[in-house]
Amino acid sequence: MLALMDRATTLWHIPVVGRAKGRVIRRLIERHRPTRAIEIGSLLGYSAILIAGALPPRGRLICVESNPYLAKFVKSNAEVAGLGRRVKVVAGDALRVIPLLSGRFDFVLIDAAKEDYLDYLRQLEPKLVPGAVVVADNTGIFRRDLAPYLEHVRDSAGRWLSREHDFGGDAMEVSILRG
Ligand SMILES: C[S@@+](CC[C@H](N)C(=O)[O-])C[C@H]1O[C@@H](n2cnc3c(N)ncnc32)[C@H](O)[C@@H]1O
Repeated sequence: MLALMDRATTLWHIPVVGRAKGRVIRRLIERHRPTRAIEIGSLLGYSAILIAGALPPRGRLICVESNPYLAKFVKSNAEVAGLGRRVKVVAGDALRVIPLLSGRFDFVLIDAAKEDYLDYLRQLEPKLVPGAVVVADNTGIFRRDLAPYLEHVRDSAGRWLSREHDFGGDAMEVSILRG
């Protein structure tokens, strides 16, 4: 399924995380073994399938997608990939949805409105367990929009351990919440 989506998204320049960043995300999941993940911004479900497919057997992923039409695609693509039971899709603006979510998360992918990354993270912070991994996509191409986010995870009095992964044309920030 991901190989099929890789071909289509590359051909049509659809902004998904793609293979190189996907490898890093997969490695992070293998290393940290999260079981309750959340993704902000799902588009067609590429990163959802990648994350849900890498989670351990009891792992679950919540996808928050503001476009209700796309949210339906995410759900059906996850089902086609055999991951329907692991993926729950919530259609709505993440800034309205996150405060309504119960429980705690140990893995986050942020890949929605660039100017809102810091607000997503601030809303999520009280819902994260120590050691939670937060991945923020597009920190290279949207560096200026994401400056407040990057300042927060890099200079938060040691609360976060954060580093950038460079992919040539773009980058991705990986931040671990200290215990
Ligand atoms: C770059 S795409 C996500 C790509 C996806 N993560 C992947 O790699 O397959 C950004 C998505 O964020 C969604 N989005 C934008 N603002 C949002 C918001 N406030 N809440 C939830 N989703 C949002 C858009 O509708 C779009 O589908």
